[in-house]
Amino acid sequence: VNEALRVAVEDLVAGASTKSLARSSAALSLRYRLRGAGCVSEQDRLAYLSVRLPATYAALIQMLGSVTRSVETVLDLGAGPGTGAWAAREVFPELQRAILVEKDAAMIALGKQLSCCLPLACEWICADLRHPPVLPAACLVLLSYVVGELPSEGLLPLLRTAWDAARETLAVIEPGTPEGFARMRRVREALIEWGAHLAAPCPHSGACPMAQGDWCHFAARVNRSALHRTVKEAERNYEDEKYTYLVAVRSPVEPVQARILRHPKKRSGHVSLTLCTQEGLQDVTLSKKQGSLYREVRDKKWGDSIHK
Ligand SMILES: C[S@@+](CC[C@H](N)C(=O)[O-])C[C@H]1O[C@@H](n2cnc3c(N)ncnc32)[C@H](O)[C@@H]1O
Repeated sequence: VNEALRVAVEDLVAGASTKSLARSSAALSLRYRLRGAGCVSEQDRLAYLSVRLPATYAALIQMLGSVTRSVETVLDLGAGPGTGAWAAREVFPELQRAILVEKDAAMIALGKQLSCCLPLACEWICADLRHPPVLPAACLVLLSYVVGELPSEGLLPLLRTAWDAARETLAVIEPGTPEGFARMRRVREALIEWGAHLAAPCPHSGACPMAQGDWCHFAARVNRSALHRTVKEAERNYEDEKYTYLVAVRSPVEPVQARILRHPKKRSGHVSLTLCTQEGLQDVTLSKKQGSLYREVRDKKWGDSIHK
């Protein structure tokens, strides 16, 4: 996570008992698994800052890397402590203004304290997205780990609100679980129906070829800080945040030729890839003998795209 953000989080969390943060962190992850409420106490919010914010931040940075349009304004719906604004500031140096909509006033208070250190004009709106106020349009609209917090009948209205506010790009990210991907399939179908073009990760706008029971997801490496490790009661200094996402745009975009869906398997002189392509899912093995094609893909990673 960005150094200024890490320090700002540590300042906010300083003084809280790490034992009770660890209890909140465990309860929070159980509630997310059971699809219950998110943060219900101040302790939960501080636990969120310590362990979830670094993970959603890392996933956001990776996803936003596939946004190729200029982003001067961002509208973040279900902004939590403002993770999306921090990530957008990191990826888009041209960013001028962030509008953050969040229903939890106490989370907004924490987000405001964090965003003191963020060189960006931030405007917070306390509102419930099930009954959204009139929202300003923005170059980029973000739905980051929020779609799953609404009851399933709330998905399409929220998505419509988000898409209507997007001048150019809407980016949606959810946990990389079968349930998160089931929601993303609905997001994808609706956006295609509304005329959106898919910039990432999909190489086409046809029916999603992912088999039932399987799910399209990617991973972002999160370097765990000392605080993160303590609160999570974990020893390893990193974790991999699994996520699923979609970046949709208004103006036509050249689709990627293929997306790498698993860790490539590398052997000497060979690389085997599982790809989503315009012709569906394909397992391909390329060898050194294939020259430039092999050289183009041999260093690619899970989640990368192939353009020719
Ligand atoms: C898992 S957190 C994600 C926060 C942030 N977007 C991130 O990626 O770190 C989900 C946030 O959505 C907010 N939220 C959930 N339902 C909402 C609603 N109906 N209206 C506004 N905010 C909502 C929650 O209060 C919480 O802060």
